[in-house]
Amino acid sequence: MKDNKKIILSGIQPSGTLCIGNYLGAIKNWVDLQHDYDSIFVVVDMHAITLRQNPAELRKRCLSFAAQFIACGIDPKLSSIFVQSHVSAHAELAWVLNCFTYMGELNRMTQFKDKSKKNNANINAGLFTYPILMASDILLYQADLVPVGADQKQHLELARNIAERFNNEYSPTFKIPEPYIPNRGARIMSLQSPKSKMSKSDENENNFIGLLDNEKTILKKIKRSVTDSGSEVNYQNGGEGLKNLINIYSLFSGEKIELIEEKYKNQGYKEFKDGLTEVIIESLKPIQKKYHSLIDEKSYLEKILNEGSTNAMYRSRKTIQKVYRKIGFPQFKS
Ligand code: TYM
Repeated sequence: MKDNKKIILSGIQPSGTLCIGNYLGAIKNWVDLQHDYDSIFVVVDMHAITLRQNPAELRKRCLSFAAQFIACGIDPKLSSIFVQSHVSAHAELAWVLNCFTYMGELNRMTQFKDKSKKNNANINAGLFTYPILMASDILLYQADLVPVGADQKQHLELARNIAERFNNEYSPTFKIPEPYIPNRGARIMSLQSPKSKMSKSDENENNFIGLLDNEKTILKKIKRSVTDSGSEVNYQNGGEGLKNLINIYSLFSGEKIELIEEKYKNQGYKEFKDGLTEVIIESLKPIQKKYHSLIDEKSYLEKILNEGSTNAMYRSRKTIQKVYRKIGFPQFKS
């Protein structure tokens, strides 16, 4: 552990296109927290194969997501970044924890229900047991805090329950992790169907803004986004669509909601949307600039990821050996 700092761990699946939902719900907080915590951020490629992926694209996306983490402000000098499949302890612990998780618990996972509805041609066992792999990601590193969006809350509760069960059965082995879910930004909604959350894997690209979307695309997507039949830029009286847009405006600009309402008091949705477009474009500009300068530096990115996985291998081995010893797997001196 670095300087006895508390540990944070979080991950993102390299599926679809990283979007402002992922940024405002998770990455933005990672960037702030990394200064005070021993921080670990994982590109969780093993999670991504619960849905079929094109191998060449998955490989490319892992590197691209890591570059986007750095472009958003994750500093490899402060934080470890690595690719999950490079550290075999994740799969190893997942197997053990499979035997400490009940079918009933997994059956209650709302994300499994949603995802299996959407993918009924491929409801594989991985999709069902995926929260156990997520618990392993967290518990392997003895994380204190897990900064995520609201959609991951249930998975975190399961991770805590599994850890407590194991600790009670043997002796304290795992730290019980706390979720870190921001008050605002934890649930950014889809631009065209604001009753559902914004998703980076949405088939309709107009539902999300990608971190790498160009100005024209952002303009078009905000223009098409759903507001209300009214015309007033008022949070309280607004429907889900308008509330979501005001929230996005506030989170990117750092301006309070009342200030935004005041700014657009005698103006309509068009002016508000123009302002919002500008705020998003300006906020994403430095991220995109950094990303484009990084993505061709393949050897630099690979070096960062190799350092990350070396560190992760060392730390995760400690936990896995402890677990193996406690459950009774023989360990011989070589
Ligand atoms: P994933 O890849 O779906 O999403 C990555 C992160 O982005 C957050 N997020 C959102 N936040 C606000 N509004 C939204 N519309 C929105 N959409 C996504 C998610 O909450 C998440 O924090 N199972 C996880 C990945 C994972 C993980 C872990 C996370 C694997 N192992 C260990 C933490 C710790 C997932 O599928 O996230």
